[in-house]
Amino acid sequence: MTIRKILVTAALPYANGPIHIGHLVEYIQTDIWVRFQRLRGNRCIYICADDTHGTAITIRARKEGRPEEELIAQVQAEHERDFAGFQVSFDNYGSTNSPENRELCHEIWEAIDKAGLVKTKNVDQLYDTVANTFLADRFVRGTCPHCGATNQPGDNCSACGATYSPIELLNPISILSDSQPEIRSAPHLFIELAQLREFLVEYTQKGEHLQKEIANYLKGHFLGDENSAEGAKPLKDWDVSRPAPYFGFEIPGHPGHYWYVWFDAPIGYIASTKQWCDRNGERLEDWWKNPDVEIHHFLGKDITYFHTLFWPGMLKTAGFSLPHKIHIHGFLTVNGAKMSKSTGTFVKAETFLKHLDPAALRYFYASKLTPRVDDLDLSVEEFINKFNADLVGKVVNLASRTAKFVQETGLSASYPDDGGLFAHAAAAGKEIAQAYEDCDFARATRLICEIADRANPFVDSEQPWTLKKDPAQAQRLQDVCTISLNLFRQLAIYLAPILPDLAERAGRLLNDPLISWDQSQTPLVGTPVAKFEHMLKRIEVKDFENMIEESAREATEAALESEGTPDRAGEGTAVAFQDSAEALQNEPLAEECTIEDFTKVDLRVARIVKAEHVPEAKKLLRLTVSLGGDNTRTVFAGIKAAYDPEALVGRLVIVVANLKPRAMKFGLSEGMVCAAGGGGAEVFLLSPDSGAVPGQRVL
Ligand code: MSP
Ligand code: ZN
Repeated sequence: MTIRKILVTAALPYANGPIHIGHLVEYIQTDIWVRFQRLRGNRCIYICADDTHGTAITIRARKEGRPEEELIAQVQAEHERDFAGFQVSFDNYGSTNSPENRELCHEIWEAIDKAGLVKTKNVDQLYDTVANTFLADRFVRGTCPHCGATNQPGDNCSACGATYSPIELLNPISILSDSQPEIRSAPHLFIELAQLREFLVEYTQKGEHLQKEIANYLKGHFLGDENSAEGAKPLKDWDVSRPAPYFGFEIPGHPGHYWYVWFDAPIGYIASTKQWCDRNGERLEDWWKNPDVEIHHFLGKDITYFHTLFWPGMLKTAGFSLPHKIHIHGFLTVNGAKMSKSTGTFVKAETFLKHLDPAALRYFYASKLTPRVDDLDLSVEEFINKFNADLVGKVVNLASRTAKFVQETGLSASYPDDGGLFAHAAAAGKEIAQAYEDCDFARATRLICEIADRANPFVDSEQPWTLKKDPAQAQRLQDVCTISLNLFRQLAIYLAPILPDLAERAGRLLNDPLISWDQSQTPLVGTPVAKFEHMLKRIEVKDFENMIEESAREATEAALESEGTPDRAGEGTAVAFQDSAEALQNEPLAEECTIEDFTKVDLRVARIVKAEHVPEAKKLLRLTVSLGGDNTRTVFAGIKAAYDPEALVGRLVIVVANLKPRAMKFGLSEGMVCAAGGGGAEVFLLSPDSGAVPGQRVL
């Protein structure tokens, strides 16, 4: 068999925050695949780095009052510590803020420029006239042009998810000076991706570099031509420069302009490989310009575009190897919902390790991962049950119930008749290996559990603990234990990519380190058996609950802390509030009511999904509001003089959701939209703060 030379990467985590269990879906998945390749005897290196550039880093560094370099060094140390805690076995963990990366950026940029792909276009951008600087997307906050949520960053809205350019923000405020920025034009450098269209169609649609669903998605959305479906966006020019201030690399020949973080980030894959090469006496071109090397990228679906279009385009133009395969995975949900800080399901790697065995997460993710892009859900019961039932109950059990009986004698001198159990499990190795190779770890773990399911009844029926009581059965006892321990050993090898610690302990128990897949094909005989040491401990529900509780506590503390330190880089502006008493005088307070009275009114967050004029009505608009899912209803609102229907679509409002429906001349009104103001043009719709979602109750 030829030895494959494989270079594997996982996406480079941002250096502005900690590693959490969502990230770990990726780094563990990749690690399993890498360890599998090594176990098979292939030469496989696992490369990663921190992604350190861009405005998010600068903003956090400013908030903490220290230079970016100090922040990214600290975060990198934390990331490396967390990954090590989950046995993620990188061969090199670099940083995009490295001299190697700077040099490679220069080289690749030069090639792209030479190929005639770079052009300059003026871009309207917000300019802070107090700080005298252009403002990158995250240096400005304002009101979302789509849903009206306030205090949103300049690139996308955290309330409705819309993406937009900073100049579309309503009431923008610079976070550098708290002043209102103005729009100015500045030159940006663009890469004309459309010139590479033919290549990209070829690369993404042929040769199975991508999962089918990804290839189809790209074809439908970006790679079509003039005949393609409506709504398909062609390959747009890619804006790869940002004016100062920007934490990144300055573009040669363009002082004051920096490469956008997504230009230098993937080059970090090569730069990190370079560090590994330098340390190991290897040549970079033997890995990145060598058709005999397979390059595999693992990443999440959110960063598909960068890796499947920009990145192959850059590599191709600069004469580097193209990725052999880009493996894209879905997102983690916890108990069916997006990870959330307030409910404690946003669990940091560090917090997880304080409460639970990393092996449990590795095994759980393995049991859920398929070659498809589907999201995967971590439910508490399933998580605990899989670990306790499969691993502790079926696998480790084979050793814990038998090892002690052969501690003095060692394994039998020849392998006894086991009714075909070992041979069957050895034969299954081929299918299991294929499942690993295909990244179908769910299938691999299923096949492995099937072997365990056949092995356990053997031990149950032979009852070594009973044999032990009868000295005449000494040989049978040794044989039964030899069989059970050999089946355990096979399982430990098959599970080794997922559970490296278990494999190591199994190797120690049987005095035979597990380092190769082939060891699963031949039984071990006549060797000593060490004292049985603890292998895996059952997980208790309370461990999991404690972890969730601690995560929720951390989130609350972090929120309190950040309230103390203003979000803005400059000092908070003191504003003297001088509101008139007029409104209250015009409409005095209503009679006192009890909390019970109040809760009778069911107020809900709703999204306006449609807004139309009612031709016959002078004051009304007909709104269709959604409470989430397909719960929509019609509401007539007297806001025609104050709002343009188009401007309302998409925004969140508060509705009285249990108001008795009222038949009106124009149709049935099924609720009421809350607003303040005296009427006419003086009407102000109520919106929730960012983060609220349709259907939530307002209390
Ligand atoms: N810095 C970029 C990647 C640059 S690669 C040249 C980035 N960083 S990230 O920290 O946001 O994410 C790193 C990886 O973790 C991405 O592949 C992302 O998809 C993945 N995940 C982050 N959160 C995740 C979940 N909740 N679930 C699954 N994967 C997740 O993107
Ligand atoms: Zn919005």
